Amino acid sequence: MEVAETLPEPINGDFTDKSIVSITQFDRDSVEQLFDEADAMVEMVADQGRDDLLADKMVANLFYQPSTRTFASFEAAAKRLGAGTIATQGVEYSSISKDETDEDTALTIERYVDTIVLRHPEQGSVAKAASVTEIPIINAGDGIGEHPTQALLDLYTIEEELGAAENLTVTMVGDLKYGRTVHSLARLLGLYNVRLNYVAPPELAMPETITNEISSSNIEQHSTANLHEVISESDVVYMTRIQKEHFSSLEEYERYKGAYVVDLDTMKHAKQEMILMHPLPRVDEIHPGVDDDPRAVYFDQVENGMYIRMSLLALVNGYSIS
Ligand code: NCD
Repeated sequence: MEVAETLPEPINGDFTDKSIVSITQFDRDSVEQLFDEADAMVEMVADQGRDDLLADKMVANLFYQPSTRTFASFEAAAKRLGAGTIATQGVEYSSISKDETDEDTALTIERYVDTIVLRHPEQGSVAKAASVTEIPIINAGDGIGEHPTQALLDLYTIEEELGAAENLTVTMVGDLKYGRTVHSLARLLGLYNVRLNYVAPPELAMPETITNEISSSNIEQHSTANLHEVISESDVVYMTRIQKEHFSSLEEYERYKGAYVVDLDTMKHAKQEMILMHPLPRVDEIHPGVDDDPRAVYFDQVENGMYIRMSLLALVNGYSIS
């Protein structure tokens, strides 16, 4: 599938009726507006659990690739705001498996709901669907393309744990070629005053299209294959899974699997006030023994994902509680 030619619309402080296709739609003010809304959602859930803000709305969660967190958090987000949901998990249960085009699927589902959340195996597919529908479509991961809602919850977690994203060294580790979460996160951090380290085998390096985009914003970027070279200077270590499904053979995957593992010993070399992140699912990148270390925040990321997705669903539907 070709990548859609129409650029997604910048948010520019107004989320209403906009699709969220790429993190490049965001500027710092729009991120702050979203995070203010998320803060209000945190309080609302703590006080009352749920709200009827979106009681007149319906959300379709169409997931054509495996998902635990993103799917469940969008379901929980919609339901905590009173919206009804239609959920499809697995392309085999969709007419796409009967060769329906993605555009026709989107044009159909938009007759039933007010917002579509779409995870799809092909890069560019969400942009393409968004270009034909009137209602907002939210990208929940498009192939090796982007995962904008993950990047937003990641930055929200960084700010919650470390304060403003200023003068931070953020180290992304693992499969930076096929991992869409780091594609969105690196672009988002490009809006802030940070230094980015990319730790990957040369074959799984961060794509040049992304590093070139970021270099235009004067962000310092450094690539290495050695985590130990940069661990002690990092404020954030962001581990990722080697994306098994993108390798042509099991042998090739096994060449990289286990390349980077954080265990209790690795944590001894890290700063006392750093944070260890992971979008999850993990395979063997973080030893479970590290989970009790207060610097391990991956399950806080999981929870923040719900608040960020509640906020996005509210704002694109023209609602706010903040
Ligand atoms: C990621 C994804 O699907 O891109 N998971 C997630 O949404 N938190 C990361 C991965 O699959 O490795």
